[in-house]
Amino acid sequence: MLRTKIREILDRDSAGDDVLVQGWVKTRRSSRNVTFLQINDGSTLKDLQVVADESLSNFADADSLTTGCSVSISGQLVDSPGKGQRFEIHAKSLEVMGLADPDTYPLQKKRHTVEFLREIAHLRPRTNTFGAMARVRNTLAFAIHRFFQERGFLFLQAPMITASDAEGAGAMFRVTTLDLDQLPIKNGAADSAEDFFGEPTFLTVSGQLEAEIFALALSDVYTFGPTFRAENSNTSRHLAEFWMVEPEVAFCELDGLTELAEDFLKYIFTYVLDHCPEDLAFFNQWYDESVISTLEGIASSSFERMTYTEAVDILQRSGEKFEFPVHWGTDLQSEHERYLTEKHIGRPVIVTDYPKEIKAFYMRLSDDGKTVRAMDVLVPRIGEIIGGSQREERKDILLERMRESGLDEQNYWWYLDLRSYGTVPHAGFGLGFERTVQFATGMPNIRDVSPFPRTPKSAGF
Ligand code: 4AD
Ligand code: MG
Repeated sequence: MLRTKIREILDRDSAGDDVLVQGWVKTRRSSRNVTFLQINDGSTLKDLQVVADESLSNFADADSLTTGCSVSISGQLVDSPGKGQRFEIHAKSLEVMGLADPDTYPLQKKRHTVEFLREIAHLRPRTNTFGAMARVRNTLAFAIHRFFQERGFLFLQAPMITASDAEGAGAMFRVTTLDLDQLPIKNGAADSAEDFFGEPTFLTVSGQLEAEIFALALSDVYTFGPTFRAENSNTSRHLAEFWMVEPEVAFCELDGLTELAEDFLKYIFTYVLDHCPEDLAFFNQWYDESVISTLEGIASSSFERMTYTEAVDILQRSGEKFEFPVHWGTDLQSEHERYLTEKHIGRPVIVTDYPKEIKAFYMRLSDDGKTVRAMDVLVPRIGEIIGGSQREERKDILLERMRESGLDEQNYWWYLDLRSYGTVPHAGFGLGFERTVQFATGMPNIRDVSPFPRTPKSAGF
């Protein structure tokens, strides 16, 4: 007999069939000569009840099962007299596949702190929280591909190893095969000519520059993959390795991009509301009682739009005591972003036209000479979830911006070349995938929406 997923069993219209279920024991309760097991196989938040009695030749085995043991059970699916469940299985055979010593198995039936669970990242997927997180994450990833595929965007895989700094911000991990204990030295520095690629290489901070290459040939593309940042920010919203979704669109200016971002967020959050109702209800109950209403709000409201200059004005007149004071020219901190979206507007806000000094070299300079056609999408609880811009398609201005930013134009010759041959207005953005999962689940810390979070001084598992 083939294994049936518990989710599929619980979705059935009627009982009666024999099924094979395999999973892990959540709890066991014994009363005289009957044992009740709650089994979970990760396909759904719900457990399936298995009833085992003395008709089993190995009833003693069943009766001594503990939390975490793995089992394979076949039996008949019957209507359950118990509360809170439609079906249960009356076991005809039960095989204990793996034991889990109750004296040492760390996941006993009680609520554990997320901090403790991070220390056992190899076992935390077995908890309700991390099962639900993994299912929501999966559904969001699928929705992201669906959104772009339905609109004819090509999925592009950008390289993870790169010789250029896509953000010009310098927070990159070096990739090398040089022996760090015996570095070949030339002119007082490590000799990259002897390194694997013959030049300094890094883990990419963004697939954008490569996405631009393909957008300027295929019009609509997107990347979806891991990106890496070596910034030492130990916050609840930063990881050193995170996934980013980066659409890039040719023949598109900033207004078209803000519309794409709004449609995109509404689509994926509507999709997760439709496809993960139980898991979202779980997060709503245990982590943040506003999760579902905030997601529904996003799906039905229109996003506010304001310029950076307007945002600074609102913040200055707000009367709020911010930790970081705001004035024109400073970058918005998370406290400012959250004030705008949570308190001032109460909906997602798209802030555009930031001062060029605080944004990347590739953003298109406006006629005022002071601002660039940047956009950040801010959402409640998270702040910035998307960052993007119209790109500088004029070669002379791009060159000047690169020089101002202290970049070596030789390294970007191909990026400049795109502006020499058939250049067009184009624009794109990056969505932080973990921040998206954080938003959809209400999990306060980004470390708990990544299967294996990488943060300063922490790369275990
Ligand atoms: O605003 P960012 O830095 O934009 C870019 O990298 C552009 N190249 C994107 C583009 O235009 N194609 O990053 C984009 C998003 C942020 O809005 C945030 O959601 C997320 O990536 N992000 C992080 N998520 C987790 N940990 C970090 N350290 C992050 N840094 C950025
Ligand atoms: Mg940004």
